[in-house]
Amino acid sequence: MTQGLPYLEKLLIVSGKGGVGKTVLSSALAAVCASSGPTILLSLNGNWPAHPVFEVPVAYEPREILPDLWIADVDSLSAVREYVKRKVPFSGLYDSFLTSHMFRDFAEAAPGFQELMCLGKIYDLVCESRFARVIVDAPATGHLMTLLDVPSATAKVVQVGPLNHNARKIQDMLLDPERTRVLLATLPEEMAIQEARELHEFCVERRINTGPVLVNQHVARRFEASEVEQLLQLQAADGLAAGIRAACAEAELAAVQELALTGLEGMDHLLLPRLTTHVGEDLIQRLARHLSVESTNG
Ligand SMILES: Nc1ncnc2c1ncn2[C@@H]1O[C@H](COP(=O)(O)OP(=O)(O)O)[C@@H](O)[C@H]1O
Ligand SMILES: [Mg+2]
Repeated sequence: MTQGLPYLEKLLIVSGKGGVGKTVLSSALAAVCASSGPTILLSLNGNWPAHPVFEVPVAYEPREILPDLWIADVDSLSAVREYVKRKVPFSGLYDSFLTSHMFRDFAEAAPGFQELMCLGKIYDLVCESRFARVIVDAPATGHLMTLLDVPSATAKVVQVGPLNHNARKIQDMLLDPERTRVLLATLPEEMAIQEARELHEFCVERRINTGPVLVNQHVARRFEASEVEQLLQLQAADGLAAGIRAACAEAELAAVQELALTGLEGMDHLLLPRLTTHVGEDLIQRLARHLSVESTNG
């Protein structure tokens, strides 16, 4: 018996409001996927000295950090450079140009060009690599929406040639429900839920496969209202014992979260607990168990 994900698509994109747990949840998803085949976890322009969860340096070049778990950061300039090197004959002659400021200015000049190159890199990893799964720790909601619109906008503006061809094949991948799924990360809080809803509507409008909502840092209700009342009385009587104070605070948070979660009515969602473990592999393993399903056929 192995653990696997209930989602079968090769490309899983995790987005949501800033700070809701995109990095932690995409890491947990990648850890689950790695138990059934080579998996790569991608960040986009992460620009971090070390990955916040796995605490290893991350570069454009994929690197295996655990058995079958690879990690890479797709930064725009490296993606553009790789594209140019592949397309332009004798591009080795231009190495110094490709690393110059002039090249950076050139790459930044055309709107959407860098984004298209990053998506192109993701396309290569999904459609032309040995990875069984590609998990993207995507930018926050608004930025992801802009990114997802780049291929169709490019294909409209540039109607022939290799850019058009690239944009179309990326768009086909994004719209293919067998290859792509956008997972909506949120906290059980009103604003974060609102953003998840907006992204959900955006995906539905464009026919991009989406859901469920991953509700992170959920605190389950452990006490009935009458028990909370008793705790509050004890707290008043007992000179604020720390344990009682903590239980009251937790009960209050659970109630606030329950109210916020009514905003997800009608949407498929999965509750992931708030954990007190230090961020890192332990947190990931525990969340991974909540994300996965037991499977007897691998
Ligand atoms: N389920 C959880 N339980 C406890 N802490 C969590 C959980 N998920 C995320 N965190 C913490 O919340 C913070 C934000 O998470 P992160 O994944 O970096 O968010 P994002 O990538 O969306 O900005 C981090 O400090 C992380 O350790
Ligand atoms: Mg992050």
